[in-house]
Amino acid sequence: MTSVQNHYDRLLGPLYGWMLGDGEKARERARQELHDAGISAGDGLAVDLGAGNGLHAVPLAESGYAVVAIDTCQSLLDELRESSGTFAITAVRDSLETFRRHCPTAPDVVVCMGDTLTHLPSREAVQGLISEVAASLAPGGIFVTTFRDYVRGVLEGPARFIPVQSDEEKILTCFLEYGRDRVIVHDILHTRALSGWEMTVSAYPKVRLDPEWVGAQLGQRGLQVCTEPGQRGMVRIVARKI
Ligand SMILES: C[S@@+](CC[C@H](N)C(=O)[O-])C[C@H]1O[C@@H](n2cnc3c(N)ncnc32)[C@H](O)[C@@H]1O
Repeated sequence: MTSVQNHYDRLLGPLYGWMLGDGEKARERARQELHDAGISAGDGLAVDLGAGNGLHAVPLAESGYAVVAIDTCQSLLDELRESSGTFAITAVRDSLETFRRHCPTAPDVVVCMGDTLTHLPSREAVQGLISEVAASLAPGGIFVTTFRDYVRGVLEGPARFIPVQSDEEKILTCFLEYGRDRVIVHDILHTRALSGWEMTVSAYPKVRLDPEWVGAQLGQRGLQVCTEPGQRGMVRIVARKI
C-alpha cells in the first residue's frame, strides 16, 4: 500500500479529469452542489481543501470569492491553474491540515468535497481539521463537506468491485477492502498496449467516518450542523458558525 500522496502522484492525479467524465457536466454538478449546500455569492475568502483539479474552486470563484485551493497533487494543481483563467484562485501545494497558514483573512466558506475528508490518516486528524475549521471561520461562515459513509454503506462480495470509468484505451476499476477503522482503496487501471491489456494496481487507505460522528464533532465546536444526502451516494454535511 502506498501513501495517499504517492497514489495521486503516480496513478490517480493524471487520470482524475478523465475519471470525472464530461468536464462541463461535472462542473455544472459542482455548481449545483454548492448551491444546494446554501453557499451564495460573496466577495470574501473561500478555501477548498483537497481541491483536486478545481471542480469546486472555479465555481466558488465564479460566485465572487477569492479562493485558496489546497492540494498535495502537483498534476491536479497544474490542471486547476490552467482552468483558473482570470479568476482569483491561489493554488497551493500543501497538506490541507495546515490550511490556516494560507488564509490571509478569516474564510467565509470552507469546503472539503468529493470524499476528501476520508483521505486524512485517522479520526484524530479529522478532529484536528474540524477544530481548525471551526476556529478559523468568520462569523456566519459555512463549512461544507461531502464524503462516503464507509461505516453503514458497507459493500460485500462482488459489490466491492466498482467500475469507475472506461474508454477504448483505459479501464479504471476500484476494489474496496474493509478493515476495522479504514478501508483500503485499490485502483486497478487497465491500459491498452501493443501486446494487449496492461494492468497497474495502486492502493491507499481511507478512514471510515460515521457521518453522525463528524456532525457531532462540528456541533461540539459550536457550529450549527445539517446532515443530508449529497450527490452520487455521498453524505453532505453543512455546518455554520453562528
Ligand atoms: C477524491 S479527490 C477530490 C478532489 C475534489 N475535491 C473534487 O471533489 O473533485 C481528493 C483530493 O484530495 C487531495 N488530498 C488528499 N489528501 C490530502 C491532504 N492531506 N492535503 C491536501 N490534499 C489532499 C488529493 O490529492 C485529491 O486531489
